[in-house]
Parts: sequence; structure tokens; C-alpha cells
Amino acid sequence: MRTIIAGNWKMHKDLQGAIDLVDALLSGSKDMPAGPAVVIAPAFPFLGIAVERTRGSRIAVAAQNCHQAAQGAYTGEVSVPMLKSLGVSHCIVGHSERRQYFGETDAAVGEKIGALLEHGITPIYCCGERKEEREGGRHFDVVGTQLKAALGGLAPDRIGRIIVAYEPVWAIGTGLTATAQQAQDMHAHIRSLLGTHGDVVAREVPILYGGSCNPKNAEELFACPDVNGGLIGGAALIAEQFLDLVRIAQLVKHLN
Ligand code: PGA
Repeated sequence: MRTIIAGNWKMHKDLQGAIDLVDALLSGSKDMPAGPAVVIAPAFPFLGIAVERTRGSRIAVAAQNCHQAAQGAYTGEVSVPMLKSLGVSHCIVGHSERRQYFGETDAAVGEKIGALLEHGITPIYCCGERKEEREGGRHFDVVGTQLKAALGGLAPDRIGRIIVAYEPVWAIGTGLTATAQQAQDMHAHIRSLLGTHGDVVAREVPILYGGSCNPKNAEELFACPDVNGGLIGGAALIAEQFLDLVRIAQLVKHLN
């Protein structure tokens, strides 16, 4: 199973800040063993320059969102063919901040995943329950419903090409983290749901953990058998911390 460390930069960094962070990650990751795949998701204006600078390196570049239509009168939106033309290889979809602040629905997320796969861009599909849903004991159902809505219409060979990120909403940017047991239980649940689309899907789709993952708690989380890496927010903005997470994933997943 692949291990992936992905950094979601959200709406952070200006042009120089983005260049500096890309360069620091490039020089810091040069001599690292090639275990985990490394993905960074800068804001839209910096995708082109990130692709240019990382070309030929181990760092892949993701967008944080896309529109499901190939083109059209959608002011302010960015299409999948536009991302493709830049050389972007991954795209985060369905992040809880998009769902919460921009009204993104499961149905729209499903369409975005379809559009990305059609153009050969790997979706990093986010799912996760809110605090009250976990407290009400509904977290497995909520995530199951999200997955079904997003993946239901796709053929198994397409589902096998996505990456899932489990991001409990109550842990995102809050400093609260799922315990290793909570993460493992949900990841195993997600894997069994993926299994309804075939054994290959269950075996090959990486499931990342996201939600206040940092170098202090990563070892325990990455040690869970069904956690295949992380989608990292805050700690992805500091080169040393992000590189530490790559090192930890290397130690936990590739040296044992
Ligand atoms: P966080 O964000 O690591 O800052 O909690 C994770 C995410 O939203 O992807």
C-alpha cells in the first residue's frame, strides 16, 4: 500500500511565501528515502509556479478544489482541464471547509470526482463527521453516507484511482486529534465500505488521516494499519514540520 503525506495550504501564503516553502521542501526532501509520496496543495495562483519548481522531484502538486464543468460561465471557478493544462496531478475535493462555507454538497463532490478521473487527475476525497454527529454516535453512518453519495456512480476501476482522506471536522485546525483507536476504527470502516466496490479497491485506495496531525502525534496515528498517511493543514505550512511528517511516515510505514 502506498503511503502519502499531503499538505493542504488552504488560503495561506503569498507568492514569495509559497516559493520559499516549495524551495524549502525541495531542498529538505532531496536526500530523503523515497518511501512516502509527497503532495502539496498551494492556493490556485501558485499552482503553476509550484509545478514548475517541483518538476522532476518527488513532490506532486494538488489543487484544493475544482469545478465539475469543463468550461463555461462560472465566474471565479477553475475547471479540471485548466488544472490539467498546468500539470497539476491531484486535487482535494469535498473538504469540510468547502462543505461548510461554500455549500458544497455530496452530489457536487461526486461530480467533481468524476470530472477529475476523466482527466487523469487523482482526487483526494475528504469525508468526516462533525462534533455533534460523533457525540450522537452517528459518525460511522455519516461517513458511510458521504462515501456512498460521492462514489456511488463510479465504476470500480475508477474508484480504485482515488485517495480518501478521513478528516473528523472537530479535529480540523482545533488542536484536537482523533485517538489512534478512533482513527483506526473509522479507517477500517471506510476500507470495508470501499470493499463493496471490489477487493482491489479496498486493497489499493490509500486512506489518509487529517485533523491536527503534527510531528508529535503522527507516529501513533501512522502506526495504525489502515492509516496510509496524512492530509496535513497547519503543520504543512512549516517546512521542518512537514518534512518531519514525511520522515515519520517513512520510519513507521517503510522500515517495519
Ligand atoms: P489541520 O487541517 O491539520 O490544520 O487540522 C487539516 C485539513 O483541513 O486538511
